[in-house]
Amino acid sequence: MKNIAIFASGNGSNFEAIATANINAKIKLLICDKPGATVIARAERLGIPALIYNPKDYPNRAAYEEQILTNLKDAEAEYIFLAGYMRIIGSTLLEAYEGRIINIHPSLLPEFPGLDAISKAFSSGVKQTGVTIHYVDAGVDTGPIIAQEAVDILPGDTLEALEARIHQVEHKLYISVLKEILK
Ligand code: GRF
Repeated sequence: MKNIAIFASGNGSNFEAIATANINAKIKLLICDKPGATVIARAERLGIPALIYNPKDYPNRAAYEEQILTNLKDAEAEYIFLAGYMRIIGSTLLEAYEGRIINIHPSLLPEFPGLDAISKAFSSGVKQTGVTIHYVDAGVDTGPIIAQEAVDILPGDTLEALEARIHQVEHKLYISVLKEILK
């Protein structure tokens, strides 16, 4: 059984999907950079220890990540899964967890990297978008791709309906990739 940490900044539906799935991993920690985020209440409800940081309390990214790294090591976390963590991973964490940081992104990368990927795809007129799971490198949503699944944009679709379908695919795909990586 591997020990993992999940990083999230917001709602936490992916966090909860992983936390309630039958996986061969123990979630040792939720790392959250947004005090008050919904994901924190989910962790509390599910009995998963959460550490909440305010990046502004640190002089720079390296100092912020050093603190996280200390906490990850104390928890013996072996992998990091990003699930809506809205911050670039810097060299401190990248070097310590080389090849062991994974991200989920709501588009078919390399299309629509960065923020608001679902609405960008929706308003661009493409007929298909989807979900990508990839290893994290120093860029924004640029690391080696592990898995992708397409989601059709239907005639008469709304952004809300598309978002809901994408999140459904995310939850399933993230769990199956996680199981595969940790087996
Ligand atoms: C997901 O769409 C994920 O792909 C993106 O951020 C969103 C997080 O959603 N990186 P949630 O917080 O897991 O509900």
